[in-house]
Amino acid sequence: MNQIRYERRTYTNGYTPIQKLERLSKALGGPAIWIKRDDQLGLTAGGNKTRKLEYLVADAIKQGADTLITCGAVQSNHCRLTLAAAVREGLRCQLVLSKPEAGEYNPQASGNHLLFHLMGVEKIELIPADGDIQVAMEALAQAVEKEGKKAYIIPLGGSNQIGSLGYMACADEIEQQAMEMGTPFDYVVTGTGSGGTHAGLVAGFLARQSHTEVIGINVSGTKEGKESQVRDLLYRTAALVGLQGEISDDAVRCDDQYVGAGYAIPTEEMVEAVTLVARTEGILLDPVYTGKAMAGLIGMIRKGELTPDDRVLFLHTGGTPALYTVPQLFIP
Ligand SMILES: Cc1ncc(COP(=O)(O)O)c(C=O)c1O
Repeated sequence: MNQIRYERRTYTNGYTPIQKLERLSKALGGPAIWIKRDDQLGLTAGGNKTRKLEYLVADAIKQGADTLITCGAVQSNHCRLTLAAAVREGLRCQLVLSKPEAGEYNPQASGNHLLFHLMGVEKIELIPADGDIQVAMEALAQAVEKEGKKAYIIPLGGSNQIGSLGYMACADEIEQQAMEMGTPFDYVVTGTGSGGTHAGLVAGFLARQSHTEVIGINVSGTKEGKESQVRDLLYRTAALVGLQGEISDDAVRCDDQYVGAGYAIPTEEMVEAVTLVARTEGILLDPVYTGKAMAGLIGMIRKGELTPDDRVLFLHTGGTPALYTVPQLFIP
């Protein structure tokens, strides 16, 4: 493994903290739980995409790009952070946003959408929920090139082998912190969407020959579909860094029991999880990713899939701006 060969911008000073959630563990009567505060990563309002963007933006700059183009939902954390990185680097940024499947697009929407405007997004291209985001991004890139500028397309969620390097680096960081704490973690629990966080973590732990296992709680899709998507990205990341040795299929484990009716559709378990963590620890989760991931962790404890002897690290991947778009879920 030699991820250091890849150039990296630095958007966070030092490591994100790992904190013990004693009151939450006690409330659940479960294992010792820690949380890694990737919601405190650098760039506007933090979150997991900051780590991926350190490598993706370095690659864009290396290629001489002056315009970042990416895509996501109307409340995309990834779009907010890509724009924030562009602002930080003096680059331009254009976004392709998919309209919501249910309900109308609200041009006055708060949360991340508000931040797109506040940070001066150059262009927002809205496409239907079933539209082709890749085609839309390529059309924007062509228009940029016609103006004599150079575009760099970042895929959905920043999830390609370059973006995953950010979470390989995070696995290193976790191993280092665990060493300082004296004992490694048995499990890292994370929300799994486009898969780059999950794939990067697994690649990073494999590279270190660590026994820490990653459990991905799906925020969309089926177990089989998501495992195959993460595995594919894991192989591509491993090939990029020259990771030696066979990777077993078991290295990727996803759980699809906490998705509910679909991506970003609230569930009772999510509302319970967000409320419980706020009331026991004063930590804010989000309704789309970390709320469902925590619902997964709570569900696994209640089903006895995690035992009181396990040492579990929950990865807080950010996303809290979206919390402020759904007050009706939390105000009685
Ligand atoms: C807050 C948050 N958590 C988790 C995820 C899932 O990460 P990944 O797309 O790398 O699977 C995302 C993706 O957008 C996110 O915004």
